[in-house]
Amino acid sequence: MLKYKDLLGLRNITKEEIDEILETAIPMKDIIKRDIKKVPTLRGKSMATLFFENSTRTKSSFEIAAKYLSADCTNLAVSTSSVQKGETLIDTAKTLEVMGIELFVMRHGASGAPHFLGRNTKARIVNAGDGMNEHPTQGLLDMYTMKDKKGDLSNLTVTILGDVAHSRVARSNIWGLIKYGTKVRVVAPETLIPVELQKMGVEVYTDVDKALKGTDVVNVLRLQKERQSSGLLPSLSEYNKFWGLTEKRLELLNSDAIIMHPGPMNRGVEIMPEVYENPNSVVDEQVTNGVAVRMAILFLMMGGKGSEDIN
Ligand code: CP
Repeated sequence: MLKYKDLLGLRNITKEEIDEILETAIPMKDIIKRDIKKVPTLRGKSMATLFFENSTRTKSSFEIAAKYLSADCTNLAVSTSSVQKGETLIDTAKTLEVMGIELFVMRHGASGAPHFLGRNTKARIVNAGDGMNEHPTQGLLDMYTMKDKKGDLSNLTVTILGDVAHSRVARSNIWGLIKYGTKVRVVAPETLIPVELQKMGVEVYTDVDKALKGTDVVNVLRLQKERQSSGLLPSLSEYNKFWGLTEKRLELLNSDAIIMHPGPMNRGVEIMPEVYENPNSVVDEQVTNGVAVRMAILFLMMGGKGSEDIN
C-alpha cells in the first residue's frame, strides 16, 4: 500500500512504493490482453477526473483503467462546469466528494495545485500533471517500459532529450530513476536547461551527439510550444536540425537501445516520423503500459490489499 493519502510525485515516494506499483502493473497488463478485459476488483468504488489542461493519453487511460477494474469514473468537463462561473477548486472537488467520489485524478496548469487540493479534501488525489512540476504516472509508466524492455534499471544509461525546462515528465523520470541508481543524462539547448538540474544528480549535456553515445534508453521530450516564452529558441526547423532525434543520430545509441516519447509528438520537430516507426521504438507500448500502471495505482489506492485481490 502507498504510504501517503495522495500520489503527488516521484520525488517523495520510496523506491519500495515504486516497486510495488510496477510489480502490481504486471498482472494488470495480463488483464488488458484478455478477451474480456474486466475484473470486479473495484466494484462500487467511485472516482473522478478533473482536467484543467488538455489530455488524450492520461485522461482516457485512467478512465479505461477504472472501467477494466469495474470502478465508476466521472469525467468532469471543466470547460462546461461551474468552474467557468467562478467556483473554486476546493468547492468543485468538495461538491463531487459529497456525491461519493473517493479519488480524484487531477491535471492543472499550476505547479502544486494537486498538493493544495490534497490538503483540503478527504478524497485521495493522483497528480496527472501539475504545471512544470511532476507527472508521476507518466514517470512510472516510462520506468515500467524501461524495466520490461531492458531489465534492471540500475544498469541503464537513460538520456532525456529536449525541452527539460518545461517538462514535468522529465522531472518525474529523473526523481524516479535516480532512486534506482540509473545513470541519467539530460541534453537540451542551454536555454532549456533549468538551473536546479545539476543538484538532482544527473549528467547535463548540451551536445546531443555526445549525450547519445552509449545510451540504452533515449526518452525524447515534446517541445512544449504552449509554454515557450519568446526568445528561448531560434526556430522549430533549427531545433529539429540541432536537437531532433533523426535516423542518423540513432547510430550513436547502443545497438539494442529503445526509443521513447511520452506523446503527443511533434513529428519533424523533436522526433522524425521514421524514428517513431523504427523497430526499437516503444512509443505505442508506453501507451498500453500506461493503462496497466494506472490500473495498479487505482488498485493500490482504492482498496486492493494484495495481488490475490486482483482477480
Ligand atoms: N503524455 C501525456 O501526458 O499525454 P496527454 O497530455 O495526452 O495526457
